[in-house]
Amino acid sequence: MANSQDIEAIVRQVLSSMSGVSATSSSSNATASSFNSGASFGAGPSYDIPKTAHVAMLTALGHYDIKEFPIPPVGDNDILVKVEGCGICGTDAHEFRKDPFNLIPVALGHEGTGTIVKMGKNVTKDSAGKPLKVGDKIVTCMIFKDDPDITMYDLNKQNVGDADVYGLVPDDERHLNGWFSDYIMIGREGSTFFNVSDLDLDSRILIEPCAVLIHAVERAKSTCILRFNSRVAVQGCGPIGLICVAILRTMGITQIVTVDGNAQRLEFSKKLGATGTVNFKDFNGIEALTQGVKDQFGGYLADFAFQCTGSPAGHSNIYKFIRNGGGLCELGFFINGGDATINPHFDICSKEITTVGSWVYTLRDYATTFEFLKAAQRDNIPIKELITHKFALKDINEAHEFNLAQKGLKIAIVNE
Ligand SMILES: NC(=O)c1ccc[n+]([C@@H]2O[C@H](COP(=O)([O-])OP(=O)(O)OC[C@H]3O[C@@H](n4cnc5c(N)ncnc54)[C@H](O)[C@@H]3O)[C@@H](O)[C@H]2O)c1
Ligand SMILES: [Zn+2]
Repeated sequence: MANSQDIEAIVRQVLSSMSGVSATSSSSNATASSFNSGASFGAGPSYDIPKTAHVAMLTALGHYDIKEFPIPPVGDNDILVKVEGCGICGTDAHEFRKDPFNLIPVALGHEGTGTIVKMGKNVTKDSAGKPLKVGDKIVTCMIFKDDPDITMYDLNKQNVGDADVYGLVPDDERHLNGWFSDYIMIGREGSTFFNVSDLDLDSRILIEPCAVLIHAVERAKSTCILRFNSRVAVQGCGPIGLICVAILRTMGITQIVTVDGNAQRLEFSKKLGATGTVNFKDFNGIEALTQGVKDQFGGYLADFAFQCTGSPAGHSNIYKFIRNGGGLCELGFFINGGDATINPHFDICSKEITTVGSWVYTLRDYATTFEFLKAAQRDNIPIKELITHKFALKDINEAHEFNLAQKGLKIAIVNE
């Protein structure tokens, strides 16, 4: 229910849209409680900003502490965001268990979104040139350094693998660097961010993992083998493989066969667009498994396949599912999962399989992702059901344990 301050903000917003006058005024923000309250750039409602923020800091392996930090002043280039929610990514799981990036203590969470509550005067547009104002919903992409090849908003530029990301940067004196928190400060030089006010919360939480698949599909399309009438195999029905299915479906591809060992996940893949499923546990040996895939395509091998498991055995197997002259996109190895064995003669050379690798995304893929999420909604593809469990910030340790136990698909931290 709206409180009196909310109502005041709404009234001011309506009046401003009628009169063209800025909706934000220092005098009308009488209840604000810190130095951050008062005049804010970017027309929109004004928000009460507390003195402190709560940040889930990973302070030891397998343990977060909820730390309270003062909210620093919002500088001319800064955006202060009240966090609504943030998905838990495989990378967060790796950090939680092993800290491979050596970041502890660190404010994690990069699949986040929230409401702009205050902005510096130099911030007027998002990274796609869309106007930005206080009250808008926002997501962050990468923090670019100074490599023009990856900063350009260009479909054909390299992926953003070398850039930083909020939620995976070393702690600093501001501390508000991760989305597992109630406030985050977007202010580092080279930050990229997008106005996604036209997407609901669950869609916004899914943007980052969906961008991984938008990029993978773009990579696949670069082979010129992926077409409307292609038979496509998707191996692995974790969030990555499932999103892949949903994207293929919204593209108009109608023959999609999923391969996994988890019956529940295979079943869910049908809701997202899979037309056939293969449970590898039902087959003994690669020949029988290949026949299982073929049967699902009505007696044909796949024209194209996406490898979405982190399993070397999965990589070895997938070539068998692809026809002569077909294509493969390998995107399942975000970390080193070890070597895989293939037979160069049978698997690549004589079959003339065109293979592409895919790694994260480009900045441009983010914008495409927003349109995909709207298309999924339009086509009644229940992509948001990927978020199977939501936890409060205070329960973040439990949420990570739950995630590690693989009890759900996408787990999210959602603030009240
Ligand atoms: N390329 C990128 O930029 C990028 C980005 C994010 C994640 N990833 C990687 O993608 C992979 C999938 O991510 P996720 O979140 O969906 O993981 P996940 O662990 O939730 O899902 C993997 C699925 O693969 C299935 N599987 C395992 N071995 C298999 C096999 N031999 N054959 C068929 N299915 C098998 C599992 O049952 C599981 O359902 C991960 O390894 C992750 O590191 C890559
Ligand atoms: Zn992620």
